[in-house]
Amino acid sequence: MTWNRDSWRKYNIKQQPTYPNLSELNAVEEKLSTLPPLIFAGEVRNLKQELEKAVLGKSFLLQGGDCAESFLNYRADSIKNMFKVILQMAIVMTFAGGFPVIKVGRIAGQFAKPRSSDFEEIDGVTLPSYRGDIINGFEFSESARVPNPQRMIDAYYQSASTMNLLRAFSRGGLANLNEIHRWNLGFINRADLDERLNKLVHDLTEALNFMDACGINSKNTPSINETVLYTSHEALLLPYEEALTRVDSISGDWYDCSAHMLWIGERTRELEDAHVHFLSGVKNPIGVKVGPTASADDVLRLAEKLNPQNEIGKLNIIVRMGADKIGDRLPQILRDVKKEGVHILWSSDPMHGNTVKTSNNYKTREFDKVLKEVQNFFEIHKAEGTYPGGIHLEMTGEDVTECTGGAFNVTESTLAKRYETQCDPRLNANQALELAFLVADLLKNFK
Ligand code: PEP
Ligand code: CO
Repeated sequence: MTWNRDSWRKYNIKQQPTYPNLSELNAVEEKLSTLPPLIFAGEVRNLKQELEKAVLGKSFLLQGGDCAESFLNYRADSIKNMFKVILQMAIVMTFAGGFPVIKVGRIAGQFAKPRSSDFEEIDGVTLPSYRGDIINGFEFSESARVPNPQRMIDAYYQSASTMNLLRAFSRGGLANLNEIHRWNLGFINRADLDERLNKLVHDLTEALNFMDACGINSKNTPSINETVLYTSHEALLLPYEEALTRVDSISGDWYDCSAHMLWIGERTRELEDAHVHFLSGVKNPIGVKVGPTASADDVLRLAEKLNPQNEIGKLNIIVRMGADKIGDRLPQILRDVKKEGVHILWSSDPMHGNTVKTSNNYKTREFDKVLKEVQNFFEIHKAEGTYPGGIHLEMTGEDVTECTGGAFNVTESTLAKRYETQCDPRLNANQALELAFLVADLLKNFK
């Protein structure tokens, strides 16, 4: 069947809301399709070129951000802190690990959530599940949980203003490497981590001073005081994605202009379903999450559909199997994909296979398991002679207490202090930094 931006509507589709008022939905779709794109196709082509290097073992992809962005907790400060923590991690990986880092946020559009159950029960009351602010409300009330298409318009405008601020931070001086000592988020509370970061800042400052003495500085070299942060989200809510999918006037190709990169979740990656069909028609780089039940055949068939030309840098497989399970299937998958000569950028999502419920009913992740899955991911690649090209994280620049362990030593009983996520537990800024140092150490083995 030929592809068009609305041809997904003929396919089986999972994880979609049922809107009570279809004419209201149609009006929103029409409105959205007249609004300006959030990104430009030329930027997507740049990202694809950068991702090519990550497939070839010359660069590393750092993708991270909220599990779900929220309308209620929307503040400039949290965007700024997220920006800083991503930058800080990227510097650690570049300077200590020795690889250039491609930065992609789960931001400016990460609103729609797949759910394992259509309903949620609290104290004997059953309501439809929360599906992300772009669909319905987080509040546990009957009216909040009704899907409302107007939320797509709100999500669009929030994404636009987030994007605006990110672009300003990237170009306006905040990303200047000479200012790295100011990126400190102010709550590193573990001495060894603090010491490692201080040493890195010191060494980097010396390197910059040396370069300045050689005539290379922020005045004549933009890469010293500017950066690029690309955006991404799960392309789950297809009416929204369709409305923002446009033909690029330069190439004549279709681009999903809601973000630079889109991914398909573990629950919606069925080969013959709507999500895979929809994303097979756009030029953006595409991610697909694969869980512990995935096989080499699944990955090869996804590659055939989503990247039939076997372009380098087009397809990102995001492995989220769990620290204890990744060893069961990943080695064979890597072997078979390598044998077929299929180009894939392999990322590790060490979050989604390690989610547990505590006895006091918090959804959490043990930080040690997160570290372990990343370590296993790197070791498996080393053994198979393949390249671990990226990492995909749920994190925040705030000092929340959502994952247990780490520099803050969050415990089950202190989770309640700052448990702020509307969906899955995120790494706080300390945990993210600690993980960045681990990745830097692991990357050195691939030099
Ligand atoms: C997510 O990334 O928030 C998510 C739902 O992931 P997965 O599809 O891997 O479960
Ligand atoms: Co999540």
